[in-house]
Amino acid sequence: MPGGMSAQDDAAWAPVRHRFPVLRRQTYLNCAALGPMPDFLLETYQQAVLERQHLTPGSAAERARAALAQYLGVDGASLSFWTNTTQAINIVAGSIDWRPGDEVVVNASDFPSNVLPWLRLRDRGVVVRAAALEEGRLPLKAIAAHVTSKTRLVALSHVLYQTGYRTDLDALGQFLHQRGIWLSVDGIQALGLMRPPLDHVDFYMGASFKHLLGPRGLGLLYVQPQVADALVPAMVGYASVALDMDDPAGLADLVQGRTPLRYREQAGRFQLAHVNTEGLSALADLLSFFDALGWDAIADRVLSLSGLALAGLARLPGVRLVTPQDDAERLSLAVFRVDGWDAHAVVERLAAHQIVCAAREGAVRAAFHVYNDASDVERLVMAVRELVGG
Ligand SMILES: Cc1ncc(COP(=O)(O)O)c(C=O)c1O
Repeated sequence: MPGGMSAQDDAAWAPVRHRFPVLRRQTYLNCAALGPMPDFLLETYQQAVLERQHLTPGSAAERARAALAQYLGVDGASLSFWTNTTQAINIVAGSIDWRPGDEVVVNASDFPSNVLPWLRLRDRGVVVRAAALEEGRLPLKAIAAHVTSKTRLVALSHVLYQTGYRTDLDALGQFLHQRGIWLSVDGIQALGLMRPPLDHVDFYMGASFKHLLGPRGLGLLYVQPQVADALVPAMVGYASVALDMDDPAGLADLVQGRTPLRYREQAGRFQLAHVNTEGLSALADLLSFFDALGWDAIADRVLSLSGLALAGLARLPGVRLVTPQDDAERLSLAVFRVDGWDAHAVVERLAAHQIVCAAREGAVRAAFHVYNDASDVERLVMAVRELVGG
């Protein structure tokens, strides 16, 4: 639970803020859409290009895998790399041996990428049940109401992109595992802001371009090891099978049906082919940057900043908060509505003050990260006050 914020806090975080050139021009509160890259990634990419220019062997993929495994508290072999979150969700949905009548529970208001791949399973006889938000939240009871003896999987987001509600993954995962149900979590709105608790999660996916502050085109997927070994990957490539590339007879034996296709263990079976190695260099450097700041300190900082924004906004007449105010139910987002104002119009008015927010489902979303400080919160609250004439 974060305490109040002080000027000393801002002073302590000032060296971090200086690493983000975007803040010299803008009050950037939109990393829930696209994270700004810190300055040191220029050097990372230069190094990656030099490695390719001279074809010096690099170790980016191994470094990123090890750093990510440490961050998530999982085995490196349980991770695979993709292009984006959406692709990783599709891989999970497509790799399970669905039987007609199996049931999946989704959040009817989730980001479309975490609804569509599950809806498509209706073609395979799967029943998709949709839980509805209750005042911006998706509490356990709202999900439990849709769980039956046929439910095999629940798919939802760790942090909801349009309200900022944070799911208690330990409580939900334990409830589901007691019933033999898998939990699949889109973590893109939490990765880079906290350590996700994965003890009771079977699938956790995300991408590097939001709060991880990394490149686009780099997605990641964690699959709980025992679950992974039971899945048949939806796609197959040379990297996903136990195939000796130096032995042409190996492929011939497969083609002739003399040997069966054997998938690699754990997440190895999902990895198809080449991955975004240059992007992984950036991810490895970003993870060591975050690690040096400390994950608890990062989570406390973003909770404090967004909490300060919520408290300041709540005091304004005509402003209604969408994000729950309890720290246990939120993370870095401060989402609000302004009576009589269209959210896009508010976002435009804020942009005129060089404050960058987003409009999502009729509400204004401000997203905080470690590079923000109390002056950013104040600018946001003052600009909204000007709108409502408070
Ligand atoms: C909750 C959520 N899931 C998925 C995505 C899409 O991510 P990707 O482009 O990595 O598939 C977004 C935002 O773009 C999002 O907010």
